[in-house]
Amino acid sequence: MERVELERIWAKEPVEKHILEKMEELRKEGKMVPDVSLLKRPSMIQGIKEAGVINTGVLDEVGKHIRVGMTTQEIDDIVAEYTKAHGAICAPLNYEGYPKSVCTSINEVVCHGIPSRLRKLHDGDIINVDCTTILNGYYADASRMFYVGNVSEERKRLVEETKHCLEIGIEAAKPYNTVGDIGYAISQYAHKKGYSVVRELGGHGVGTDFHEDPFVAHIGKKGKGMVLVPGMVITIEPMINAGKAAVVIDPYDDWTISTRDGKDSAQWEHTILITENGNEILTD
Ligand code: MF3
Ligand code: CO
Ligand code: CO
Repeated sequence: MERVELERIWAKEPVEKHILEKMEELRKEGKMVPDVSLLKRPSMIQGIKEAGVINTGVLDEVGKHIRVGMTTQEIDDIVAEYTKAHGAICAPLNYEGYPKSVCTSINEVVCHGIPSRLRKLHDGDIINVDCTTILNGYYADASRMFYVGNVSEERKRLVEETKHCLEIGIEAAKPYNTVGDIGYAISQYAHKKGYSVVRELGGHGVGTDFHEDPFVAHIGKKGKGMVLVPGMVITIEPMINAGKAAVVIDPYDDWTISTRDGKDSAQWEHTILITENGNEILTD
């Protein structure tokens, strides 16, 4: 979205006084508070919600078609067609040179797997499909895991516990908590279950751009990092590994991130609005 348009919205829909006062109070206490430009105004929240509805529709549509033997390119086709048919745009396509409309990350691939005609889904695979939709300049970002055919109990446990990590992260995303509280909650739980947490990638502010401030690490310390203020929209998207936390990037495509030890990884993502009394999932 263009700066001039944003400035017009900010002028028309200023941040409420009691929120500005609370932020000032926290700033004086030495807390890291967001810039007001990170606080979404009512019309913007409406726009992100509408993008979220389509993004959820895309993931539902993908879920209906996932089957053994299909290629990840076919998933890309479904995402591209559904998004276009609903008057929206796939954010990944051409984003920093990314070549496809969606990310499809299978088994040991942590994220940013590139759809391909050469990769068929095999019985027993677990796959993350990560979609980001732009509608009228507003972004919504979410991902889900899908089971392909008969999946081992071990893989199912990783997928379900990773989903729980996202839920725990969402619970911690309360107004005037911090980004560190989210990472703390997620990493404590994941480690307790014997898993590791990817550190190099994380959630992010989202709304009028794909990746905005703050960076939302999935590890962290209680009370550290940026304060969460009503009006902020962030993603939480834990990447949880069955083995060690270390990841590697594919040197040939420069996108695909995999676990260094080759063990499985799972991820779930939602776009979350911080509200006065908690939060709202905009991609449900
Ligand atoms: N959707 C991813 C995220 O959750 C980002 C993908 S970037 C892409 O932040 F270029 F690979 F699409
Ligand atoms: Co995403
Ligand atoms: Co994201």
